[in-house]
Amino acid sequence: MTAIQLRSEAPGARILGFGEYRPRRRVTNDELVQVMDTSDEWIQSRVGIAERRWAGEDETLVEMATAAGGKALAASGLAPDEIDLVVLASASLREPIPGIGPQVAHRLGIPRPGAFDLNAGCAGFCYSLGLVSDAIRAGSARNAIVIGVERLTDVTDMADRSTAVIFADGAGAAVVGAADEPGIGPVAWGSDGDQHSAIEIAAGSSTMTMAGQTVYRWATTKLTDTLHEAMSRAGVTAADIDVFAPHQANLRIVESMTKRLGFGADTVVARDIVQSGNTSAASIPLALSALLESGEARSGDLALILGYGAGLTFAGQVLRLP
Ligand SMILES: CC(C)(COP(=O)(O)OP(=O)(O)OC[C@H]1O[C@@H](n2cnc3c(N)ncnc32)[C@H](O)[C@@H]1OP(=O)(O)O)[C@@H](O)C(=O)NCCC(=O)NCCS
Repeated sequence: MTAIQLRSEAPGARILGFGEYRPRRRVTNDELVQVMDTSDEWIQSRVGIAERRWAGEDETLVEMATAAGGKALAASGLAPDEIDLVVLASASLREPIPGIGPQVAHRLGIPRPGAFDLNAGCAGFCYSLGLVSDAIRAGSARNAIVIGVERLTDVTDMADRSTAVIFADGAGAAVVGAADEPGIGPVAWGSDGDQHSAIEIAAGSSTMTMAGQTVYRWATTKLTDTLHEAMSRAGVTAADIDVFAPHQANLRIVESMTKRLGFGADTVVARDIVQSGNTSAASIPLALSALLESGEARSGDLALILGYGAGLTFAGQVLRLP
């Protein structure tokens, strides 16, 4: 009997570069006050958002994903033909067939990669990063791109002030390659499917509803263990973490997690939600790109990330920043 052969494993995988796309149009809280019964004070105190970006008609999922992916590719220094896996994470795809991963890969000039879409809600980027990191380690791909892209304004009911002030649009991407020294820790992931209706687009509807308080309680009580698990799987402790970049769902949730983990002034905490709103699967790469660009985070820093959202799903890992 001929044995099936496996490719040799890489010792680890690491992020080689980030890229991002922020839609042109900034929407301030004062602009929202003109069209719905809300206030800057309510939004800032309940969710911590000062402004967000809303995509224009021409800023499609494909356009935004291609722009972010192209920047990540340029930052990585790799040529398109060195990529052989493209994972596109999104929760706001309006047309299920075909998926847009292959089209985005084609637009990036990547010849015939494995390419698909992944919907794990706001945890999509971390789920995808876990998959591509393991694919690279196992020899199934040399290099990969993960792109989180959302047009949540397409699935938001603008008459529902409790979601309309929160959700926004954008794209963030990371190129991942093999590394002798692992730069992506094992993923800690899971789901609570009994709460599937907490964030949903119900059958027959085209817009999302959210049980805000249920999600808030879940995020602030159930996910601390996952953050600890991600660190323990990577063999690090909170004292080793330079940058904490959880999903930018709500500033109060970011602050609560920061406190529960005991992070002090030495740890840089991502608060991109203030300028970007909640961009679901795009929020973590957008936040990390912004921190690297501003110099608040530096190459070589150890970051802890955690995505969580519709499903309900959650996933987190420790990363070495490129
Ligand atoms: C959505 C969220 C901000 C709502 O805050 P909350 O304190 O739970 O508010 P409630 O839903 O209890 O509503 C309180 C009041 O504020 C009102 N309200 C809701 N949205 C409002 C808005 N944008 N402006 C002004 N008032 C608003 C409600 O109508 C309600 O009024 P009432 O008391 O007269 O009925 C909060 O629950 C939350 O952040 N949840 C987590 C959501 C999240 O992170 N989701 C992303 C996961 S990916």
